[in-house]
Amino acid sequence: KPQLLIDTDPGVDDALAILMAYAHADIAGLSIAAGNVGLGHTVRNARTLVDLVGAATPVFAGCAVPLVRAADEDAAFVHGQDGFGDVGFPAPTAVLADEPAALALLRLTRERPGELTLVALGPLTNLALALRLDPTLPDRVARLVVMGGAVTGHGNTGRVPAEFNVGFDPEAAHVVFEAFPTFDLVDWEATLRHAFDDDEFDGWLAAGDRRADFFRRIVATARRYNAKHDRHGLVAADALAMAVALDPAIVTRRETRSVAVELDGRLTRGATVVDWKRRLGRPARANIVLEVDQARFATMVRRALGVAG
Ligand code: BDR
Ligand code: CA
Repeated sequence: KPQLLIDTDPGVDDALAILMAYAHADIAGLSIAAGNVGLGHTVRNARTLVDLVGAATPVFAGCAVPLVRAADEDAAFVHGQDGFGDVGFPAPTAVLADEPAALALLRLTRERPGELTLVALGPLTNLALALRLDPTLPDRVARLVVMGGAVTGHGNTGRVPAEFNVGFDPEAAHVVFEAFPTFDLVDWEATLRHAFDDDEFDGWLAAGDRRADFFRRIVATARRYNAKHDRHGLVAADALAMAVALDPAIVTRRETRSVAVELDGRLTRGATVVDWKRRLGRPARANIVLEVDQARFATMVRRALGVAG
């Protein structure tokens, strides 16, 4: 079974990814970032998930703001003001650990060197801070899988080429992308190519167990928003990254390149600039996931929702 450390800002698709992780892996800890919504909500949502699955996973609160500049947008308009579709869940009971996320990432990887796969599903603030405290962190993780970026400039934020996780904290993404000798990058554009058909997904939600019921409730706001903007199909970026983390063999097409983060541009801050033609001579660190086996991805999602068969 894979052993995971998940850094996340739940978030509806984070929730699906975390349910996938519980169905297929052991989770050493959930370290929480601000992003989709504020840190208070993302921490609370992570604890709600731990309650839902009846686990004892420690939850560590991370940074409430990006490393350098204030973010200029969140994603409450898709995920709901509380990040979980404004369903109004009761206060969670899962405990919040008394250790900052960056320190927990360092401690857990020291206790289990080489064992843990780090999966980053939100802005990279906590990871960047951990790397600044201890640059040897990459030596101690088995793998790093990041959901982030838009590798040909088709982003999903107000700064057109920027994807949300990288655009929220570009400096943090820069630190992480430069520090890890190699990592898997699942970008926004790949997630658009791996959406699920609405009818198919509705079938799973109807056939699943309480996890499906939970997900159906939290995703309703996002689906209404998407329908209003004439977008169909369920796009679950973090779930795709989690599929790659849980089963590396699911990847059917990838390209390894150098990826830099634009930190300045007035129109482009937060863009991920991929050296597709290998012109810069910079080390190619990112394994950019271009395609996965969609049937295997679907099977993993169904299991996470408790769909039989
Ligand atoms: C990423 O941004 C967030 O809204 C999602 O949870 C995902 O991690 C997609 O750009
Ligand atoms: Ca996320």
